[in-house]
Amino acid sequence: MIFDTHAHYDDGAFDEDRALLLDSMKEQGIERIVNISSDFASIQKTLDLTKAYDFIYGAVGIHPSDCGELEKSQIEYIREKSKEDKILAIGEIGLDYYWDNVPRDVQKWWFEAQMEVAREEKLPVVIHSRDAAKDTMDMMKALRAEEIGGVVHCYSYSVEMAKTFLDMGFYIGIGGVVTFKNSKKLKEVAKYVPLDRIVLETDCPYLSPVPYRGKRNSSLHLPYVVTEIAALRGISEEEVVKATYQNTLDLYRMEQ
Ligand code: NI
Repeated sequence: MIFDTHAHYDDGAFDEDRALLLDSMKEQGIERIVNISSDFASIQKTLDLTKAYDFIYGAVGIHPSDCGELEKSQIEYIREKSKEDKILAIGEIGLDYYWDNVPRDVQKWWFEAQMEVAREEKLPVVIHSRDAAKDTMDMMKALRAEEIGGVVHCYSYSVEMAKTFLDMGFYIGIGGVVTFKNSKKLKEVAKYVPLDRIVLETDCPYLSPVPYRGKRNSSLHLPYVVTEIAALRGISEEEVVKATYQNTLDLYRMEQ
């Protein structure tokens, strides 16, 4: 019973075999998936996936690297779509100074505006933050993000920073990167974060775990992430699966 908290099955990388792949999830132990929007068009594609598959849920929002061409008034579209059935969160939203292809003030405007939609609609947020730890945390503090809640997805910062996010009540999303040999920092984080605050994610089609590093990722690869987290913490794989499933229900405020 594995719950993938963060996937992009609307991505073109799945155009060839999307239905075949998704139809195989349940029999391979992938119980539920949240499809996360990134650019504007992916919001409708996410909604379509939630309607086509009973085990797929969604998040609506605009990724910081995809907000450059938007009109501010398009925030209302996100608000409207966030009210639809099976939409569990606003995301992915945040700051990305790695690609840095959208002016930082524009990224910040969309991050704040979407945080406010989440607050008003009483939904958690899925935060994307890359090479932008300080600005992300400063904004979260200023916006009282602890009142909104959510997950820091594809966590890539230090243990010290993780503590700050945890203190704000956030969950930490861990995926394929934790299996990489050179991901020393993330392995430390995976050991440090309390077991009741870790959630599993693929971010597929990206970030496939070893032994599929560099290949297309899918939720079917999550057992490799489970094995790594279990080994790092010295607990059983069953414990990791069970705890992360329950954590995901708590994060996305699902009854069961
Ligand atoms: Ni993502």
